Amino acid sequence: MSFHFTDQAWWCEDCAISDLADQFGTPLYVYSRAQLEANYRRVADAFAPLNAHLHFSVKSNANGALLRVLRDLGSGFDVVSGGELFRALKAGAAPATIVFAGVGKTRAELEYAIDQGAGWINVESAQELDVLEEIAAARSCRSSIALRVNPSVEADTHHHIATGGHRSKFGIDVAEARSILQNANRYPHLDIAGLHIHIGSQLATPDGTVAAIERILPLTELHPIRCLDLGGGFPVAYRPTDHFPEPAAFAEKIIPVLKDRSFEIAIEPGRSISADAGALIATVQYIKPRDGRRIVVVDASMTELIRPALYEAYHHIEAVNRGEETTELADTDRRSDIVGPVCESADVLGTDRVLPILRRGDRVIVFNAGAYGMSMASNYNSRPRPAEVLIDGATARLIRRRETREDLIELENAG
Ligand SMILES: Cc1ncc(COP(=O)(O)O)c(C=O)c1O
Repeated sequence: MSFHFTDQAWWCEDCAISDLADQFGTPLYVYSRAQLEANYRRVADAFAPLNAHLHFSVKSNANGALLRVLRDLGSGFDVVSGGELFRALKAGAAPATIVFAGVGKTRAELEYAIDQGAGWINVESAQELDVLEEIAAARSCRSSIALRVNPSVEADTHHHIATGGHRSKFGIDVAEARSILQNANRYPHLDIAGLHIHIGSQLATPDGTVAAIERILPLTELHPIRCLDLGGGFPVAYRPTDHFPEPAAFAEKIIPVLKDRSFEIAIEPGRSISADAGALIATVQYIKPRDGRRIVVVDASMTELIRPALYEAYHHIEAVNRGEETTELADTDRRSDIVGPVCESADVLGTDRVLPILRRGDRVIVFNAGAYGMSMASNYNSRPRPAEVLIDGATARLIRRRETREDLIELENAG
């Protein structure tokens, strides 16, 4: 069991969250190794009938300790920058198990990927192909390339995390991909043998993915294609009332479309593996009344978790300990906005939440923060980024120390 409410308090595996907050301070990211592993197995098992290679999407959580746990389970990695590639390699990933996507890879990043022997480079424009051809020619090598195709399929998700629509910046459109494949001999140093799609994140149904696969399959008739990379996007239940299809339901719809085809299949799940394996813990600083509600100011903010400010994303929030309530309050009087200390009106972690009475020093837990939480954290307002701990049963391991004020100026020229 990962995060659970037992004896009136929240726990991560066998560690009480309040003890972790006392020991490591807040704001604090807490991850459950058991949940991370269970999530990996759930996605891998769902796609086992397709013998799919799983590449964990490092952008969702880039902490090396988590990457190592996943590597040990057999995961490869999907990276979108030279920095993520570096992190995956440092975590001990075999270069051949890394796929490198990204709409604006620099020449230096592409050279780094080729020199390190990254398994696949997912190319997002014809010009990027030209740059790669030059780099590979200069090294007299032949690199494995997948074309990231923009299938012109609108995903059923928030517009900021949809990536497959015809106006999106991602990928190469189908007509151009067709022309590249028909003229693949223009690139003697590139083995253009893969097609890649990723139509968006937090997909509400498998329908868009299936439509995208059907749209790109005709391309495989034009040139020998060994691998289809279907991207990520499997959804996570952020609200207790959310019911989304499981990865198995995606696989069930995808398998018939690909059966009788001999491609290797790759997938790039991120949040479906890391989101509910992590939570953000914060301490209540101040409470003030506002229009019949309470504003609860905590010590975590949009700098630790930007998703609510960026996408109006919902993260479920609970009090870490539920003490004896001394006052009977109607739900309307319990409504709280949980906000951070950053000087931005958008710095709100949750609005209109029904919570027990909170006092200064109480802790709250923000769930499903393991994906796009710490990996999107910033130093805005010169806030040192938080610590991260990985829980394994009753053991809590600090996997990234809290930044200090000195860290904030470390890279500046003090003169
Ligand atoms: C190319 C690519 N692959 C995989 C992912 C992972 O998506 P998710 O975290 O929704 O599984 C993303 C995220 O946006 C992406 O851009």
